[in-house]
Amino acid sequence: MSRKDTLHQLRLPYSFAKFLVVIVLLNCVALQAQQGQQQASPLNSPAIESKVNALLKQMTLEEKVGQLNQYSAGAPTGPGTGRSDYVEMISKGEIGSLFNVKGAKDTNAFQRVALEKSRLKIPILFGLDVIHGYRTIFPVPLGMSATWNPDLVERAARLAAQETAAEGIRWTFSPMVDIARDARWGRITEGAGEDPYLGSLIAAAYIRGYQGKVGMPDTIAACAKHYVGYGAAEGGRDYNTTEISEHTLRQVYLPPFKATVDAGALTFMSAFNSINGVPASANRFTLRQILRKEWGFKGTVVSDWTSIAETIAHGTAIDGKAAARKSFLAGVDMDMESNLYHQYLAGLVKSGAIPQATLDESVRNVLRVKYALGLFDNPYTEEARTIYGGKPIPPASRELARDAAEESFVLLKNGSPHGQPVLPLQAGTAKTIALIGPLADDAGNMLGSWGADGKPEDVVTLRKALTEFAASNGIKVNFAQGTEIVGGTDAQTNEALEAARAADVVLLAVGEDAGLMTGEAGSRTRLELPGQQSRLVEQIAALGKPTVMIVFSGRPLALSYIEGKVNAILEAWFPGVEAGPALVRTLFGAVSPQGRLTASFPRYVGQEPLYYNALNTGRPVPPNIDLSKPTGSVPNDKYFSRYIDEQNAPAYPFGYGLTYTTFSYGAPKLSATSTSISSLGGGAGTIRVTAEVRNAGSRPGQETVQLYVGQRGTSVSLPVRELKGFQKVSLAPGESKTVEFTVGREQLSFWNIDNKFTVEPARVRVWVAPHSAAGEAVEFEIK
Ligand code: NOJ
Repeated sequence: MSRKDTLHQLRLPYSFAKFLVVIVLLNCVALQAQQGQQQASPLNSPAIESKVNALLKQMTLEEKVGQLNQYSAGAPTGPGTGRSDYVEMISKGEIGSLFNVKGAKDTNAFQRVALEKSRLKIPILFGLDVIHGYRTIFPVPLGMSATWNPDLVERAARLAAQETAAEGIRWTFSPMVDIARDARWGRITEGAGEDPYLGSLIAAAYIRGYQGKVGMPDTIAACAKHYVGYGAAEGGRDYNTTEISEHTLRQVYLPPFKATVDAGALTFMSAFNSINGVPASANRFTLRQILRKEWGFKGTVVSDWTSIAETIAHGTAIDGKAAARKSFLAGVDMDMESNLYHQYLAGLVKSGAIPQATLDESVRNVLRVKYALGLFDNPYTEEARTIYGGKPIPPASRELARDAAEESFVLLKNGSPHGQPVLPLQAGTAKTIALIGPLADDAGNMLGSWGADGKPEDVVTLRKALTEFAASNGIKVNFAQGTEIVGGTDAQTNEALEAARAADVVLLAVGEDAGLMTGEAGSRTRLELPGQQSRLVEQIAALGKPTVMIVFSGRPLALSYIEGKVNAILEAWFPGVEAGPALVRTLFGAVSPQGRLTASFPRYVGQEPLYYNALNTGRPVPPNIDLSKPTGSVPNDKYFSRYIDEQNAPAYPFGYGLTYTTFSYGAPKLSATSTSISSLGGGAGTIRVTAEVRNAGSRPGQETVQLYVGQRGTSVSLPVRELKGFQKVSLAPGESKTVEFTVGREQLSFWNIDNKFTVEPARVRVWVAPHSAAGEAVEFEIK
């Protein structure tokens, strides 16, 4: 058959097809150009460098130090300096960056001082914590990561950047790319969970989204934080000490940061914690050796809020002067809120304690970013240009927020009270719905921690969306709050019980208080539902109605104690402005849940830290021992790495999530059962893995097919399994697809006993599975 015939069969007119080919080719060229541009980061631009150097030559010592000072001039997000003389300081060239200033009017007003009053007219760089949207609030980052969709993350970040830049704010302190292995840590909500591979893909997506084509007025600088190891806080207690071996640092905690540098991140934030006794904000090894020397980073490193001053409390600096000197020499360019560079840096340079060249380098690091952003050409923002002002969020932005929320929901359980799964609800049979719980109509909490310019009045709550849907579908909704998140009265409970008694289906909207219990300083020692919510769930569930529990949380909760009482559990995180519509569409089956966990859900808090990519021990539990039984249930079940009173396995593992259909997996097939180290780099030595995935249910659905590898025989122990690839596939009922992955040098390299990133001879197990605890392994050898 000729090419023309093939096209004919596709029913495309030949000329139109030719046109399509041209478009595709043009796109390829554009893509290559884009990739080329990415490699040619503005941080490496000779044109920018000569502008930076020319400006540097004109600067006095005080003006140089000024560029390294940053202050919060709005609602504080930490314990502040108490300063308020910013206008005067800016006029004297003593401030390089302000943050927490919101709104085009205010940013312009400060900018005018810099441009009209200061000698060198260096624009101020305004920053803000835009963590999951500016005005259009998306799900919290942990929820965003549960989409396993970097492209969606990128689009959300792009929209956030446009809204932010329109306010004159050109820098966000996001993404947080800390690996988090402990659900007690409140800030687990701000990241992408426990996996370095997925975390790296998502980290890079945020950078691309925020920074877009760097320099365009609708782009903002991203800030990879908190460098580094912050998520390893002992006991999950915020700001706490960390002990991380160099191997684990390189293997687990650094990869997402490295991914942001490769994606062109303009800035980094140094963390609060100490690592092996050295504060991250005064850590030469991580800042100078790894970030600058090994990775070649040329952007700005800003401290975290007062983290330079906090080195005094850490005990590595005796006073403010020593703190400033040590952090600066270690590689922190900009001082956020400690006010110590302002006080001491000039003196330290004059006395020779800090070399002039080191000061100049830090000033260059800051100016480079300001030039890259185009701030010198476009220092102001058009006040009329602010996207919203008093206007509502545009429908297209809402749609993106709704898509993100829908993709983020993770269906943890979908039981069958009467022979068929309770979800999706059928409008025809669920005639009266009881909507109960403190989070059913709580607009503020839907915004999660870090609301930026998010407004509760923009949020469509579950109650609101359900009521609207119900009205047009002949459904009656009985709403009763039932309890507070913490606290509550018997009268509230009784009202809820009454509502539930009269209903065909009960929806329980329960969970955490986002502001109090999640995010910064939101660590918890208890991971069950707070307050009296568990009691309420138990009492309602005892009525025997089909009961769906919708959990709003910023972290994995330990729900085992209550899991058996309800029929279905949907993890909704804090979903953002479109919480309600996304939930209603999911509950009634307009869309199927497709989110997958990126952090393990424990059975009980005592299992924490808990993560799937753990090392084996010398005493793993043999398969014949049933860990759901206490020690002593069968002979010889002691002396293994186990708890006497609980299983090792999580309640819901990394990668887990149900849909409204079911998928079956064929055994994975390998293209070869052995390969050699020398041939692994090229195509020839790369192993192809294929597996057939079938939609075995009766509804269409999206499956996230996951590739895991585990290596044995290597110079250091490696995790039993590590995620190395995934693909989202959409399949109609009965449809199947052969999914293919490649396993080569990239997937098999690791930091070995000599701290070299390399491949070693090994036995490699490979799984293609629906989550990290499923599937049968096949094996090949690296010789
Ligand atoms: C402290 C937090 O740790 C950090 O994430 C945030 O960006 C800064 N405060 C600024 O608000």
